Amino acid sequence: MEDLMQKIVSLAKRRGFIFPSSEIYGGLANSFDYGPLGVELKNNIKQEWWKRFVHQRTDIVGIDAALLMNPKVWEASGHIAGFNDPLVECKKCHTRFREDQIANNVCSSCKSKDFTPAKQFNLMLKTFLGPVESNENIVYFRPETAQAMFVDFKSILDTTHRRLPFGIAQVGKAFRNEITPGNFIFRTREFEQMEIEYFVKESDWKKYFEHWLKEMKQWVKDLGVSEKMVEYVEIQEGERAHYSKRTVDIEYKYPFGQKELYGLAYRGDFDLKNHMKASSQDLSWQDPETNEKIVPHVIEPSWGVDRSVLVAMLEAYHEEQAPTAEEGESATRVVMKFPAWLAPVKVAVLPLSKKDELAKVAKEIYGELSKGFVCEYDETQSIGKRYRRQDEIGTPLVITVDFESLKDKKATVRNRDTMKQERIKIKDLADTVSAKLHG
Ligand code: GAP
Repeated sequence: MEDLMQKIVSLAKRRGFIFPSSEIYGGLANSFDYGPLGVELKNNIKQEWWKRFVHQRTDIVGIDAALLMNPKVWEASGHIAGFNDPLVECKKCHTRFREDQIANNVCSSCKSKDFTPAKQFNLMLKTFLGPVESNENIVYFRPETAQAMFVDFKSILDTTHRRLPFGIAQVGKAFRNEITPGNFIFRTREFEQMEIEYFVKESDWKKYFEHWLKEMKQWVKDLGVSEKMVEYVEIQEGERAHYSKRTVDIEYKYPFGQKELYGLAYRGDFDLKNHMKASSQDLSWQDPETNEKIVPHVIEPSWGVDRSVLVAMLEAYHEEQAPTAEEGESATRVVMKFPAWLAPVKVAVLPLSKKDELAKVAKEIYGELSKGFVCEYDETQSIGKRYRRQDEIGTPLVITVDFESLKDKKATVRNRDTMKQERIKIKDLADTVSAKLHG
């Protein structure tokens, strides 16, 4: 199973999904860049999420807040005091670990069992705003996108006149000075979140917790994840984050163990109440029917973008026996079976040879189809190698233009999963592609 992780990391680099950041300088520990295919995959996830939870609902609005916020936000939210992990150091080789991540109380570097007592280590990443590096100029990169939704609550209420229940959504970067980042893009110090703060009346919280659990289950399914790979874990009191009254972790069975993919938390009125106290602003909502003023309670579904990418890649990866007659390549075909909506490239257009008359027709097809779908045009290498490349990047449909196309005005459409080929009239390609991708 560990092997699958290596295969994904290697495919991600080889094909341009994800590579180590600043690699020409030896990289920067656990930082990664999304390449041409990775950015498409990641954008598909973020765009589908936004469409589903913001555009297609009448009860959620979006924001895009600043990464750097007034440090008072993090005092009020409890992050400065409480966003800590227990840090221990191996007394022999001085490697540092998060205490709860040491397996069998053995140092994974030198096998010693002798550790220092745990110290609380704050995960907030600090910098200074302005030219003077003094205490008053310290600011923090946000460790979650959530707080902006609480801090902007009043402005959003004043401008949109929403009634409960309603939600605020945001997609963006978050930063944590993790003690032990690792497992590729699973745990990094810079990552992206997609979060919703859903404001409800206290009496309704259970109903909406269940609603969001259902939505998250549907999302996981649509990401192409098989049910047996996911566990919904009720987090017990004492293990929950400082603000949470109920948390369900959505955990995935990664090759390196079962760990969190997403989280769903009931934050009560913890955040709005604390910000009211610290800012002396009124963050309550007045029920227009009863005139009663209440501080809304919050259900928070939270998704990691990078973990979504990782899980989508792990689930999509397949190795199959290939009919070598078609491929002219090795007997194993690697194919990323992304659901069509996730595939970074939807259609590849390949002229059988570089001959001008074929390239001309293929480029016309590319020009037409690329108006509606992310397409790739490729005329290099043998057709077998080009099919293999498209399989490895998960392109659902490949269109090949051959010499016959010049006579019968048809092209071959090849299906990634079945490898079946059909001759389709060139003028009908856009409709055929649309039906196959959306059907
Ligand atoms: N606002 C709630 C919150 O931030 P969290 O469980 O700490 O809750 C939410 O984070 C999600 O963000 C996680 O379920 C995970 O998908 C993602 N995430 C958290 N830390 C991460 C890290 N260091 N690297 C990558 N993704 C991370």
